[in-house]
Amino acid sequence: MYTVIRDILLTRKENQLSYNEFIELALYHPQFGYYMNDSSKIGKSGDFYTSVNVSDILGTMLGKWFCTLFRSTGLRPVICELGGGTGKLAQDLLGSMKKWDPILYEETRYMIVETSPYHRILQKEALKGHTVTLVQDVEELAPFEGILFSNEFFDAFPVHVIEKRDGKLFEVMVCHDEGGKSFKEKPEALTNLRIRAYLAEEGIELSEGQRLEVPLAMMDYLQKIGHILEKGMLLTLDYGYTRSEWCLPQHHSGSLRGFRRHEMKENILQFPGGMDITTHIHFDSLQNALARQGFIHRAFLRQDELLLKLGILEELAAHTDSNPFSAVSKRNRGIRDLLMQGGISSYFRGSVETKGLEESIPVLPSF
Ligand SMILES: C[S@@+](CC[C@H](N)C(=O)[O-])C[C@H]1O[C@@H](n2cnc3c(N)ncnc32)[C@H](O)[C@@H]1O
Repeated sequence: MYTVIRDILLTRKENQLSYNEFIELALYHPQFGYYMNDSSKIGKSGDFYTSVNVSDILGTMLGKWFCTLFRSTGLRPVICELGGGTGKLAQDLLGSMKKWDPILYEETRYMIVETSPYHRILQKEALKGHTVTLVQDVEELAPFEGILFSNEFFDAFPVHVIEKRDGKLFEVMVCHDEGGKSFKEKPEALTNLRIRAYLAEEGIELSEGQRLEVPLAMMDYLQKIGHILEKGMLLTLDYGYTRSEWCLPQHHSGSLRGFRRHEMKENILQFPGGMDITTHIHFDSLQNALARQGFIHRAFLRQDELLLKLGILEELAAHTDSNPFSAVSKRNRGIRDLLMQGGISSYFRGSVETKGLEESIPVLPSF
């Protein structure tokens, strides 16, 4: 991957790439990109965990919620998951629907949009007992009616990086470090008009010294979703910040980072193709983009608050088993981990938007 990127750099004017292009190559180069190769990524043997690896509980709660929603709205029972990873979330969700409402489960069409050939193989294996359609491109779904959802999807999208120095805006580019087999940053005066338009449209003003990721790829994808989803609900679960949170001093340097064998790496230019690269997402931009496309914003909650609304506490099992490794102890612990202050859920949010659905019908069961 190093040689591929270096050779591309040599063909470029100024021998530089935007961060967006670098991340796109490092994660999604058809042959050597991180998500395209067959190394283990999610879970103990991989580089990072997601909420899905904590227990079956997220999928269980989503399964129950979606059953209630289909029944209360009369929405066509079609579910599409964006970026299904190992297939574990789909497995838990479909298992929950089957238990909760077997008739609806039989009628439901479940699809996964997945770029990674490696993850598609894992998904096929994990979902052998269910009927699931795998597609590679979200545009294959058009026109879509149903529930479209994702967990930790947009955080895996490439981003541009900008910063403000001496009152001027720069785009941070990536170039080859002649001294060694590596890459380094090169700030250039910001000339990208799409980035300027994004900043203007979102009303973003950087403070002196601030660095920010610009999610143009996410914005493009949301536009596609706007065209495709004709009627239904879009649920986005991810870690991210609101506009005011991005302005806090602790987020002054942005959020781009890598994960390799469960270690966080601040320099994402190392190990291209051998490391996950991720950012916190811009929730205001996501919600604004969807509002511009006719979606109604229905809820924005921390994941723990969302799970409480969905009735997670009813899943806690009373037991007298003193074995901390028994299945019931482990599951209860998984629920506690998702609810604990400072635990995995407190960094995660769920944004819920709908289109073409009666606004008077609540989308969350306990609303
Ligand atoms: C961080 S992983 C999360 C996986 C899973 N949702 C979970 O929670 O465990 C991101 C997933 O999205 C997939 N992905 C990233 N960009 C994609 C795109 N544009 N279209 C489809 N899948 C994509 C990756 O291949 C990977 O499976």
